[in-house]
Amino acid sequence: MTDTTSNTDTPRLQAERDAGGSIVDLSVTVNGTHHQVSVEARRPLSDVIREDIGLTGTHLGCEHGVCGACTVLIDGEPARSCLMLGAQAEGTEITTIEGLAGPDGELHPIQQAMMEAHGFQCAFCAPGFLMSAVALLDENPDPTTAEIREELSGNLCRCTGYQSIVAGVETAVRVMKESGK
Ligand code: FES
Ligand code: FES
Repeated sequence: MTDTTSNTDTPRLQAERDAGGSIVDLSVTVNGTHHQVSVEARRPLSDVIREDIGLTGTHLGCEHGVCGACTVLIDGEPARSCLMLGAQAEGTEITTIEGLAGPDGELHPIQQAMMEAHGFQCAFCAPGFLMSAVALLDENPDPTTAEIREELSGNLCRCTGYQSIVAGVETAVRVMKESGK
């Protein structure tokens, strides 16, 4: 695990202090890398991940907890990062879409299956769907189609009509069963 320390002071934080706002020191592990960052107490976790830590694979759609595009895993559980404060993630282990591929860049089975199934079109929704699907398969490696649809029902897609996304998850289930992963 690598320690990364960043943004101990910036004009943005100084402006927050000048306005009477609180700054918190946040210690968090993202995709196996430890980060120590200073952020406004009111800063959403999604902004911490994207702007302070620099992992922009987590997308922001509605920023109101509706679309699921910002879904990440926090200690293995799916969470909408736009609805959490960064400060609430203190001490946790977060996995983002950038953390799914293996160390040599090999795709996670769900990524590979989704690509082969042409699961997405514009793919703006993809990070959220993939993280939700990973959470499902971690808990239930052999879900039914109905269970896949239920688990992914909190993620919105403007392009596909969902059928191809469900098919991609079903392909991943099959491949993972065959390979014993
Ligand atoms: Fe978080 Fe839409 S951006 S739920
Ligand atoms: Fe475009 Fe889902 S593929 S929003």
